Amino acid sequence: MTAVIGAQWGDEGKGKVIDILTEHFDVIARASGGANAGHTIVVDGKKHVFHLLPAGSLHPKKPIFLGAGMVIHLPTLLEEIETLEKAEIEVRDRLIISKSAHILFEFHKEIDAALETERSKGGASIGTTKRGIGPAYMDKAERRGIRMGLLANFNKKELQVELNARKDDIQKRYGVSLNTDQECDIVEKASSILASCIDTDVIPRLHASLGKRILIEGAQATLLDLDHGTYPFVTSSNTTAAGALQGLGFPPKALTGVIGVAKAYCTRVGGGNFLTEVTGETGNRLRERGGEYGATTGRPRRCGWLHLPDLQTAAAINGLTCWNITKLDVLDEEDVIPIGIAEKNGKPVYKEMPGWKTSTVGVTSFDALPKQAQDFIAFIEKETKVPVSLIGTGPGREQMIVK
Ligand code: GDP
Ligand code: IMO
Ligand code: MG
Repeated sequence: MTAVIGAQWGDEGKGKVIDILTEHFDVIARASGGANAGHTIVVDGKKHVFHLLPAGSLHPKKPIFLGAGMVIHLPTLLEEIETLEKAEIEVRDRLIISKSAHILFEFHKEIDAALETERSKGGASIGTTKRGIGPAYMDKAERRGIRMGLLANFNKKELQVELNARKDDIQKRYGVSLNTDQECDIVEKASSILASCIDTDVIPRLHASLGKRILIEGAQATLLDLDHGTYPFVTSSNTTAAGALQGLGFPPKALTGVIGVAKAYCTRVGGGNFLTEVTGETGNRLRERGGEYGATTGRPRRCGWLHLPDLQTAAAINGLTCWNITKLDVLDEEDVIPIGIAEKNGKPVYKEMPGWKTSTVGVTSFDALPKQAQDFIAFIEKETKVPVSLIGTGPGREQMIVK
């Protein structure tokens, strides 16, 4: 069992490596988070963005698991399934959803927006994706969430009663009006399409698959983890390797590989400290070369340099067995490449490495990389004590060095 885990603030390129690795696995799984994720893959020049289904879903016939740790926005899931099925990639006959995953309702999204407005008045909004993630996990922690098991045996009346009972409270607390009919219609439709996908067996189908080669697609990333990230500027789930096991209900000893994904530089969407952030011309150059605009919200990503202490932390927390360093090609035109190695008086301390000033786009062998790029990779390996096994040299499926 292998997990692919983001080592920075998300958008490292997890989707791409998942898509590449899927053919070597029997099952693909997502463990936590929801449609705040945006995982992009580029196949034959065509871009596909996944929010809830794992990015490996383009590979037909591989069973897909959505774990208990997820919060699932049903219209988004149905849309993703429809898109694939229109392209004649069958999904429902191989989709297995934990009955314990939580349903993310429209009112969760509205509460998310209301809370962000409230926070911004205090000057410190988180900059969430407004996909309702925090409020859905709030309900889960309050033990009043409504779970996917409901879809297997849907009773509209019961859901109406349950949601109506919450209406006044939600209005009073957040100024959000819960539209019971709309919410119930969505669940009813989803139930008619997905009932057979809900894993309600005594021994869940998920566990029956232990022993098979399972590939777990992490969502969000280590620095966004609710416990270990840059709190409170984090997401509301556990995004680490341990979180992935918890979210799926797999035993720790089942995990044999953890691939940490990190860009050759760094980006962040939303608020919070970003020590090695660069603004102005350099920041814009990285953004444009890297196409750093959110896959979920379209927001411009904040850009900056690699920060080694974060990679060391991610290696420690997740027990990384190797790295996938992505987007090396984005640095092709830099004269010098600063790498944050420490913090002093609130400012980053940089080691400056010489740039390679040559195109690495599409390079597929380590030996074909310029010496400076090889040294850059070797420095990451030395400082994190984790080998770099994969290096991204472009967004396309084939633009990857396997070292
Ligand atoms: P994820 O959320 O971790 O799956 O990453 P996103 O899909 O949100 O963002 C990564 C972006 O970088 C996507 O647009 C990818 O197509 C692109 N990408 C991934 N790897 C590479 C790479 O090695 N080079 C370049 N230039 N782009 C890449
Ligand atoms: P993937 O899986 C980048 C960020 C948001 C915000 C904070 C909280 O594509 O890497 P939330 O909506 O989760 O309550 O927002 O977390 N965030 C992400 N940033 N990539 C993601 O996912 C993210 N998911 C959440 O921008 O700062
Ligand atoms: Mg993303």
